[in-house]
Amino acid sequence: MTEQTLVLIKPDGVERGLIGDVIARIERKGLRIAALELRQVTTEVASEHYAEHAERPFFNDLLEFITSAPVVALVAEGERAIPAFRQLAGGTDPVEKAAPGTIRGDFGLETQFNIVHGSDSPESAAREIALWFPHLNS
Ligand code: CMP
Repeated sequence: MTEQTLVLIKPDGVERGLIGDVIARIERKGLRIAALELRQVTTEVASEHYAEHAERPFFNDLLEFITSAPVVALVAEGERAIPAFRQLAGGTDPVEKAAPGTIRGDFGLETQFNIVHGSDSPESAAREIALWFPHLNS
């Protein structure tokens, strides 16, 4: 089924010059880029994006980090785009969960600085795409 997923290349990925590598992996997988922008995130948008983590002990650090420098926000589209990007990204912990060959497995060391975010379900994707790209599907 054709789906859309919201991908963020987080400040660590942008600062380390990994934008091209991440986008190349998305394109090589066969997904299409439907929207893309370099953006400085506000605390308001970041809080909404990560609302489900509001009670977690790392929430404030997460907001501080994601608003510390520009991110690349993009929408990737294609067959099973949501699980397909999660496969490319690898597990949240770049060492314990992400396999070599994945974005996090190849480039990450710490869970907080795990290079990319990808929507985890169709519901999250719809909510996140409406938040980051409100005019895309209207
Ligand atoms: P992401 O896929 O963007 O979704 C939530 C983010 O919270 C996650 O990637 C990590 O960057 C971060 N995160 C999750 N668990 C922890 C943790 N235990 N400590 C610090 N950051 C975390």
